[in-house]
Amino acid sequence: MALNKTTPYVLKDTYKYHDGLGNFFQSETYPGAVPLVNNHPQFPPFGTRSEKISGTSFVGPRHRNLHTYLYRVRPAFFHDEYTPYNHHLETANPSPAKHLTPNSYNWPKFQFALDQDSDWTEQRLLGSNGDPAKKEGVSIWVFNINKDMEPNTAFMSLDGEALIVPSVGALDIQTELGKLLVRQNEFAVIPRGVKYRVTLPEGKPARGITLELYQGHFQLPDMGIIGSTGLAHQRDFQIPVAYFDGQFVEDKNSRDGVVAKAHNGPGWTIIARLNCKLWSAAQETTPFDVTGWQGNLYPYKYDVARFSYLGNLCWDHHDPSLFVILTAPAYGKAPGTAVVDFAAVGPHWEASEDTPWVPWYHRNTMQEFVFPIVNNTDPKFPFNQGRDWAPFGAWLNGSMIPHGENDEEYKHWQEKDTSRPGRLQDDGITAGVIEIESPLRLTDWAYNQAGKNFKNQVSAVFLE
Ligand SMILES: [Fe+2]
Repeated sequence: MALNKTTPYVLKDTYKYHDGLGNFFQSETYPGAVPLVNNHPQFPPFGTRSEKISGTSFVGPRHRNLHTYLYRVRPAFFHDEYTPYNHHLETANPSPAKHLTPNSYNWPKFQFALDQDSDWTEQRLLGSNGDPAKKEGVSIWVFNINKDMEPNTAFMSLDGEALIVPSVGALDIQTELGKLLVRQNEFAVIPRGVKYRVTLPEGKPARGITLELYQGHFQLPDMGIIGSTGLAHQRDFQIPVAYFDGQFVEDKNSRDGVVAKAHNGPGWTIIARLNCKLWSAAQETTPFDVTGWQGNLYPYKYDVARFSYLGNLCWDHHDPSLFVILTAPAYGKAPGTAVVDFAAVGPHWEASEDTPWVPWYHRNTMQEFVFPIVNNTDPKFPFNQGRDWAPFGAWLNGSMIPHGENDEEYKHWQEKDTSRPGRLQDDGITAGVIEIESPLRLTDWAYNQAGKNFKNQVSAVFLE
């Protein structure tokens, strides 16, 4: 069976995208919605105003400078005071991530109250390191949602850039810069401070992991001797085109003869995450009143099936760096140190003689958080059934915590004929891997339900 070059989705994506991570894009919902030459004209087109989102400090190197200009009907500036949002709930005001032990952890199935409806604003904090107030570290959240966000609400994280990975299900994400459909075996990245709204296509539940990066931005890894192709390629990342929640109406008295009018509805609520807590503020106008944008700071998505795996052609086993899709450099540390790497091990060929096609037993300085991504999209596939389903778990190996195959698995790999190439990961599950530089502390929610010191991690999480 040939490898899928894109995931064969039953749920089709009808949204339009720009292609190419790192490119500078200009996106208009009406010809001329983005002004020529001047970013900040005295009279922006169609009665809009210009608003800039800068994702890096102003004087950083040009190759790291990320910013985008939005042309919108009503600037985001016009909102009421932020006040604590549902701080009596664990999802809005989680217990501090404090548990740090030398143990490995596994979660065969995350514990949720399944009789309780939840939406995007009700994620569970699993763990974190660093401090969002210092822009250092990461947090990992678990979502298990079965309803749309409330009408006229939008979410944003002020803590960091969010990597959103559905394990199963799909998310319809409307951002200020346009719409993305993010299905299992795809992931999305939403920059810090960009507002978005999550609904469920066809009303079906979705479960997965959100990784928030407090420092800097995700980027493609350097390729070194690999050269220019292989792994994740720039052109396979998809960036939304502008979407205006409104219409353009003729107005002979206006400067351009046409004026942009937003569909505001009865008022909006913006829910913001800051220091892992939720806050909310009211505003009269929709955050999705952007008629056009231009820049290189934007949300994007990627289909993991597009990843071009590299590997052995003779013997030995190589480091998981070959599976890295995105990395986030730890500035101020030794060159090449990452705050976090995001990798995925999906269906691929192995051709390594006299070598088990699984890693050696190992202890890494990076911590490894591993979780399943269901790449089989057949609705009848067992793991695509229902909300209370397995596998929906993860494991975490701390820094220098030893791990590897159990005896049964080890013997299986010893008995395998390695004189011919073979396929791995053809069971419908891609392993999502988050390699983390600094120790991850767990919340009570994660710590109290975790299995510890397990010796059978793969079967415990993926096959239960
Ligand atoms: Fe490992």
